[in-house]
Amino acid sequence: MIPAPVLLLCRTSCRPLLLRLGPNRTSWARRTIFLRTALAMATGGKNSHSGSPQYTNRLIHEKSPYLLQHAHNPVNWYPWGQEAFEKAKREDKLIFLSVGYSTCHWCHVMEQESFQNVEIGQILNENFVCIKVDREERPDVDKVYMTFVQATSSGGGWPMSVWLTPDLKPFVGGTYFPPEDGIYQVGFRTVLLRILEQWKRNKTTLLENSQKIMSALLARTDVGVRGEEVPPSSQEVTARCFQQLSESYDEEYGGFSESPKFPTPVNLNFLFSYWALRRSTSEGARALQMALHTLKMMAYGGIHDHIAQGFHRYSTDQRWHVPHFEKMLYDQGQLAAAYAKAFQISGEEFFADVAADILLYVSRDLSDRSGGFYSAEDADSYPSLQSKEKQEGAFCVWTAEEIRWVLPDPVEGIPERKTTADVFMHHYGVKEDGNVNPMKDPHNELKGKNVLIVQYSLELTAARFGLGLEQLKALLAKSREKLYKARGQRPRPHLDTKMLASWNGLMISGFAQSGAILGKKEYVDRAARAASFLQSHMFNASSGKLLRSCYQGQDSSVEQSSVPIHGFLEDYVFVIQALFDLYEASLNSQWLEWAVQLQHKQDDLFWDPKGFAYFSTEAADPSLLLRMKDDQDGAEPSPNSIAVTNLLRAASYTGHKEWVKKAGQILAAFSERLLKIPVVLPEMARASAASHLTLQQVVICGDPSREDTRELLRCVYSTYAPNRVLILADGDSTGFLYRRLPFLSSLEKKDGKATAYLCENFTCSLPITSSQELRRILLP
Ligand SMILES: *[C@@H]1O[C@H](CO)[C@@H](O)[C@H](O)[C@H]1NC(C)=O
Ligand SMILES: *[C@@H]1O[C@H](CO)[C@@H](O)[C@H](O)[C@H]1NC(C)=O
Ligand SMILES: *[C@@H]1O[C@H](CO)[C@@H](O)[C@H](O)[C@H]1NC(C)=O
Repeated sequence: MIPAPVLLLCRTSCRPLLLRLGPNRTSWARRTIFLRTALAMATGGKNSHSGSPQYTNRLIHEKSPYLLQHAHNPVNWYPWGQEAFEKAKREDKLIFLSVGYSTCHWCHVMEQESFQNVEIGQILNENFVCIKVDREERPDVDKVYMTFVQATSSGGGWPMSVWLTPDLKPFVGGTYFPPEDGIYQVGFRTVLLRILEQWKRNKTTLLENSQKIMSALLARTDVGVRGEEVPPSSQEVTARCFQQLSESYDEEYGGFSESPKFPTPVNLNFLFSYWALRRSTSEGARALQMALHTLKMMAYGGIHDHIAQGFHRYSTDQRWHVPHFEKMLYDQGQLAAAYAKAFQISGEEFFADVAADILLYVSRDLSDRSGGFYSAEDADSYPSLQSKEKQEGAFCVWTAEEIRWVLPDPVEGIPERKTTADVFMHHYGVKEDGNVNPMKDPHNELKGKNVLIVQYSLELTAARFGLGLEQLKALLAKSREKLYKARGQRPRPHLDTKMLASWNGLMISGFAQSGAILGKKEYVDRAARAASFLQSHMFNASSGKLLRSCYQGQDSSVEQSSVPIHGFLEDYVFVIQALFDLYEASLNSQWLEWAVQLQHKQDDLFWDPKGFAYFSTEAADPSLLLRMKDDQDGAEPSPNSIAVTNLLRAASYTGHKEWVKKAGQILAAFSERLLKIPVVLPEMARASAASHLTLQQVVICGDPSREDTRELLRCVYSTYAPNRVLILADGDSTGFLYRRLPFLSSLEKKDGKATAYLCENFTCSLPITSSQELRRILLP
């Protein structure tokens, strides 16, 4: 009998669901029925074990904060690498692979329940070679085995638990397991013993099955990426993407699902672009309204940290109220850029303030002295210095009593005897018994607590208490400051100080774009400092390659892991994008030069000449059984989507035609998906809209230290126009851009004044010296 595979899997309590649609889910399910039979092998009798506990946990030599959190488990953990693989082969043992990351709540739960359990540790140590992977360090390993887990079950998530043969082929997998058997789920101990028994009694079948699974997975990774000849019609792709987003749009609260609700900056960027290409149509207006409303509701919601700034990862409910409290660098980077663009388009200061709020959080809490950015802050923390157990959100939530205690002052000038706390609690939806719906708090961690959410507009709150608007604003700002200080007394959540090239890239883009749009030089400087950090610590100038990660060392030094992890496609793509954004904000062509160099390297290492588009990983690693291509824009955009725009930008800065061709080939490779379900690739759908794959070049001839040039630049920075690059022609004919783009030499200042030209395909408009005229042309 074949047991339902769900028995081995995470139940409803398991969080980070993969919010991903698979267009080929059904046909794939048919092809993989036999994969499920593999799971049958994990059924059978019981077993018992004895022996003396001895362990040598090798994670202590690692640098990843997540791996170090497991360095004292009574489990002989190995990092992913030769030493572990050889041991498995030599001793003919199965591998138990556990993949997680530092802000993953259920990863911590499984650690406490199972990996800190000496008896379970003993079963693992005697019979398996145990490998722990930080998925943020090794997205390549994660992706291969997650593909397997998703294919053989109804979902996937973290912690991911997979069992592999000594030659690394997966045969059973799941996510979180409770330690012991329950009513609905087989416990981790039982699973281990059953797998072990099959390995002892039924090895041949198990090995044969793992071979078949591999073949099926290989076939799976071909799906969706085909080398068609021509890119799909961008009209069709963007119209369908808009339609699909509209269908899932939540009119009341914004966002694109009921719950949980993720920020999805890729959707918002698509909508901005869609609006820009159809400014005067009702569809365009609706696209803009959807994006702006979503950004506003998020900023009011509890997903936004009103006291210590920045955004949490997602909310569990429909109204953005109760979040999971971790804060990820990649969200801050993308959201800062999205709010800055919302300001650029709408002119509403509100959005500029939110962008500034995010950048304050990152500058203060996620910044290393070297200039790099840390990865994340955890959701769980100790409620007080005396607590033994961490709780989700403990650092961020409030009881009504605490707020009264921190804000006891009476408010001047109102007749009723009201305190500051009364006004604050009204505005931020604080309730005496807590404002968290018990349904959204299955573990009772938030009982009696309040997650702040803006409940009323400033005008309404002011009217309610008879306060002036400015008086209310000052009162709330002062109160937030006091609560911030009070919160500072609580134990902080764990900070993941690992620095990743890709996420640093997204954050640099956030600082650079916000700096340009809001006219804040300090943001552009912060972006440049981070780019210099990448250049000196995560780039090997002699090989021309990026590194994936580095770490905070002793005495504010920066450390590498003993076996350096080379950059993946996403590292190249997000860093290149960051450098283009930084060039446009700083006009320092040093960043362009590096971007172009990295683009060539990316082509060498990742391009697939047969199927087109880029692979996520280099070819060289024999321990990776599959070389795959990401095909969904999720919480982070997929690298191939961003690569399309990068290639077009690179071509506009160099005249290198090959890059335009590659951009077209990527779109062609994903054409089926783009035509059927573009909503899973909104960033690529957006990129496809560049007309004839040509970006408009805005060339400013001038000297940025002079006011006339700055006025034209401000005009460019204040108008939203996707599919445009900005070029400064400073007259230095030996500079990088003049060498690459000979047509620049023919463009001159008119009457000695700073002059703009609009060029397309290297053919330019008449010279423009007035900023009103330039604005008129930039906003057709
Ligand atoms: C060996 O595995 C096969 C296929 O999963 C299964 O049908 C068979 O019952 C197993 N044999 C034993 C002894 O467990
Ligand atoms: C940099 O790359 C060169 C050439 O591939 C290599 O020999 C060297 O070990 C690398 N340096 C570091 C610090 O990884
Ligand atoms: C630019 O020129 C190329 C051929 O060199 C052509 O295919 C493309 O359509 C042109 N783009 C525009 C916007 O005219």
